[in-house]
Amino acid sequence: MTIKLTVIGTGYLGATHAAAMAELGFEVLGLDISPEKIATLETGRAPMYEPGLDELLARHVAGIGGSSGRLRFTTSWQEAAAFGDVHFICVNTPQKHGEYACDMSYVDSAVESLAPHLTRPALVVGKSTVPVGSAERLADRITELAPAGQDAELAWNPEFLREGFAVEDTLRPDRIVVGVRSERAETLLREVYARPIAEGTPFVVADYATAELVKNAANSFLSTKISFINAMAEVCEAAGGDVVKLAEAIGHDDRIGHKFLRAGIGFGGGCLPKDIRAFMARAGELGAAQALTFLREVDSINMRRRGHMVELARQACGGAFLGKRIAVLGATFKPDSDDVRDSPALNVAGQIHLQGGQVTVYDPKGMENAARLFPTLEYAPSAIDAVRGAHVVLHLTEWREFRELDPAALGEVASERHLLDGRNALDPELWRKTGWTFRAMGRPQA
Ligand code: UDX
Repeated sequence: MTIKLTVIGTGYLGATHAAAMAELGFEVLGLDISPEKIATLETGRAPMYEPGLDELLARHVAGIGGSSGRLRFTTSWQEAAAFGDVHFICVNTPQKHGEYACDMSYVDSAVESLAPHLTRPALVVGKSTVPVGSAERLADRITELAPAGQDAELAWNPEFLREGFAVEDTLRPDRIVVGVRSERAETLLREVYARPIAEGTPFVVADYATAELVKNAANSFLSTKISFINAMAEVCEAAGGDVVKLAEAIGHDDRIGHKFLRAGIGFGGGCLPKDIRAFMARAGELGAAQALTFLREVDSINMRRRGHMVELARQACGGAFLGKRIAVLGATFKPDSDDVRDSPALNVAGQIHLQGGQVTVYDPKGMENAARLFPTLEYAPSAIDAVRGAHVVLHLTEWREFRELDPAALGEVASERHLLDGRNALDPELWRKTGWTFRAMGRPQA
């Protein structure tokens, strides 16, 4: 049998997963409730910026000249149910407004829309990040709703992709984790992932709860690593130490490693902040709140970084923002993405604006999304335009373009030469050489 796949939800996760599965040779049908998103995808373009994704879509979306034609899209649940042997649920689970818990309504509604149409054997595979216990609840729901009864099954297969590397991470993952209840589900997933498995990707088989928890644990660990180094940055600043040197030195210990030890304005995005909060909320429901109280500290160290950057900017402005122009380089939560969800850079820009500063933002890819979220900020078409007339320049997202800027040329147009590096990614010597006062987070001043 040739396995046919559907991918439900075509956002960051789903669009990448659908294209990657077509690349692996499967016939894929992507479903989204947004006709606009589907219309964009049908032209072979992703609804967001992700390196390599447009090229992958163009290679496989049906109707595009020279494509494999293996990838199609629909908004019909009936069509999806009739098409797929395996249905990947890739919808998002955002943080609930004003609460720590995540909003499961998109996942619930995907399962409830699909299941009543499942008239033949099918495996529904959850990939979204969910509170532990969701898979068990959704498995019962599928059995209740699907005409195929026990032949419609559920598996959990968390996704670990990073934005900016989504294509690479999906085609060549570090590991594949599946939570299953039957041999049939395991066998089917081994077939779906046959190529990465053959290339040596570890395939971890677990129960539902463990599979769900692996994702929560991985994101908690990564967040903790970032907040740990940011806590060290606070101590370094108090003691006159250099956190960049410190991170390099501790990273030489293999048990610690060099990755995820870049101190700065902290983590943001659609995953880490909301995932650690949802994990705490779920642990509370399970009576295990105490086990995760450290995550509250991880979160608060992280949020403190944003306030600290605002404070450094205020000092550089001579104590008050009123009447000062502040250039902000970077709006996205990380480079190589247009995602501004919970972006530390935009949060800092917004705080300074609210406190009376005249903020001008430039970002290579995130301007449209940023302007939608913060329409009251000013936006410039280039870094040099943002810096023109500025009293202080803040480097808040470490795009390669910013590392390649010419400090002398920027110095010509700036009103004063103060640079604050919120990502520890610029070369202090290069900037200081051309007369800039350069201050970075957790590093000594010159
Ligand atoms: C993260 C996880 O890495 C991924 O496995 C999971 O599937 C989803 O969440 P992502 O949100 O794409 O991926 O970004 P990531 O590269 O992890 O960065 C998250 C944030 O941490 C960014 O704001 C980044 O700037 C920040 N960060 C990262 C640091 O501040 N310091 C570091 O050393 C590393």
